[in-house]
Amino acid sequence: MSTVAPDVVGSLSVDEAVATRRSVRAYLPRPVPPRDVEEILTLAARTASNSNTQPWHVHVVTGRTKRDLAESLWEALENDDRTTPEYRYQPDPDDWSEPLLSRRRQFGDELYRCTLGVEHDDTEGRLAHHRRNYEFFGAPVGLILTVDRQSLGGGLIDAGAFLQAIILLARARGLDTCPQASFLDFHPVVRRHLRIPAEQMLVCGVALGYADDGHCLGGLTTEREPVGSYTTFHD
Ligand SMILES: Cc1cc2nc3c(=O)[nH]c(=O)nc-3n(C[C@H](O)[C@H](O)[C@H](O)COP(=O)(O)O)c2cc1C
Repeated sequence: MSTVAPDVVGSLSVDEAVATRRSVRAYLPRPVPPRDVEEILTLAARTASNSNTQPWHVHVVTGRTKRDLAESLWEALENDDRTTPEYRYQPDPDDWSEPLLSRRRQFGDELYRCTLGVEHDDTEGRLAHHRRNYEFFGAPVGLILTVDRQSLGGGLIDAGAFLQAIILLARARGLDTCPQASFLDFHPVVRRHLRIPAEQMLVCGVALGYADDGHCLGGLTTEREPVGSYTTFHD
């Protein structure tokens, strides 16, 4: 086991990486150097976890495996062959309330109408966009993040911190990402293709590549609330 921090080679500061990060849903075909993927995952493992249990595991999906996985997931989507996710990432659509409900609606409207020209009630247009999740939005690399079940539920916090480290380390190298819970609906298909052992629970997917800045989905920037609205300073 490594006890020394790996070399740091990213070129953006932490502030720059955080400030310029966004979820990218359109990628260039430009390949991601395998060395970058390995460096990102090596450094991400410096993430804090419960008693240093490091409950995460990453499946790196490229090439033919990525294509085959997408085909199987599209088939499952077409047949509406959904499975109850192994953990609840979000409530049913009708169970959201304010202020989260309005933020969610605003995001959905921006994503579908402003960037794709798809109206809210255009079911086919929305489905065509949703489908692209399963090919990691055309990114050359897909990551499937899992967590060891024995670490639950706190292990999901550790895995979330690990996920954010991957995302920021990628950004520091000029790469972009999109975390993807959409894989959860079809977790048995993912499990079968990647031969994921039973003790690993699927957390989410992550698209990894270089943004296609010429495409609106390569540069969608979302709003944030001001710091005073979500912070209470206790003196
Ligand atoms: C755990 C997680 C799962 C997500 N799943 C999806 C997904 O399945 N598909 C998608 O297009 N975006 C997904 N997102 C991206 C969010 O929609 C996005 O983070 C949010 O709208 C804020 O936009 P930004 O990341 O560009 O700042 C996910 C984000 C997180 C953190």
